[in-house]
Amino acid sequence: MNRDVLHNNILGAVGRTPVVKLNRVTDGVDGLVYGKCEFMNPGGSVKDRIGLAMVEAAEKDGGLRKGGVIVEATSGNTGVALALVAAIRGYKCIFTMPDKMSREKVKLLESFGAEVVITPTDVPPDHPDHYTVRAQTIVDQTPGAVLANQFFNPANPRAHYESTGPEIWEQTEGRVTHFLAGAGTGGTISGVGRYLKEQNPSVKILGVDPKGSVLKNFYDTGEIIEGHPYKVEGLGSDNVPGSLDMEVVDGWITVDDSQAFQMTRRLAREEGLFVGGSSGLIVHAAVELARDLDSDAVVVTILCDWGEHYMTKIYDDEWMRLNGFSIEAEAPEKQ
Ligand SMILES: Cc1ncc(COP(=O)(O)O)c(C=O)c1O
Repeated sequence: MNRDVLHNNILGAVGRTPVVKLNRVTDGVDGLVYGKCEFMNPGGSVKDRIGLAMVEAAEKDGGLRKGGVIVEATSGNTGVALALVAAIRGYKCIFTMPDKMSREKVKLLESFGAEVVITPTDVPPDHPDHYTVRAQTIVDQTPGAVLANQFFNPANPRAHYESTGPEIWEQTEGRVTHFLAGAGTGGTISGVGRYLKEQNPSVKILGVDPKGSVLKNFYDTGEIIEGHPYKVEGLGSDNVPGSLDMEVVDGWITVDDSQAFQMTRRLAREEGLFVGGSSGLIVHAAVELARDLDSDAVVVTILCDWGEHYMTKIYDDEWMRLNGFSIEAEAPEKQ
């Protein structure tokens, strides 16, 4: 039977996402710009790949056994990915999450059968109630529990090295010239970057950093400066994440929230791609980059997650206005 068509369960549908050419938001650049549709994974994001990989790694090393518990400090897509795997494989999930997170995010994880432990937002990172410390305490006190630990788990970049990277190489028939991604944990860019560079060392791997994150400056100067808050979710950092391998990155591009959100909305209206703000951020950088490239450039971006989580933010005109983001730049004749 054709396993690409018939799956034993939904986990078989993780990965092998389409790569789609962007036609209108590219505003007439010569080279080709593509988006890899990671939002089409069953849990709605690129994190489905690492959810499965981290659980399988924990099963393999014996830490996670039948009826075991998966713990992670997460409010986002990684939680959904882990909860989905846990539902299929019969594990329990416990997630710790700061109380600033929306009720929808809690309900989403609970819908998959996960338990969510809410912790105070305003506590220092070493406080026992900080959500990361609390997650470790739960692991220490719960028999059969493991921490997924996406920021330091080698199964995270490995999942992208073994799946996302080879898919991009095959789907572009080895013609990819530039790959752009953000770094939340760094897993995507490190794993894909390493794979693509092994196939063709001249492929350029570029990180996209939200204005306010410290990664570009760290790459350029080796110093950690103080970051400042930004609204785009899922990528950028105030420190260098453990899963990020700077060695495979050829440079960083900074994009601000406003540019990211305008491009996010254009992706939905002009390309039919209903994605989150980080996808807009990465595509904005890709289009700017492609302006200076010639016609044989093949630029591949990651469209990280589904737009549903951002309905009351980026896709809400009132929220955009209240937060000072212009929506005027959306060309009316293209809507
Ligand atoms: C929403 C979202 N999820 C996941 C990722 C990938 O992050 P990571 O570096 O953890 O692989 C990104 C960034 O590209 C993102 O924006």
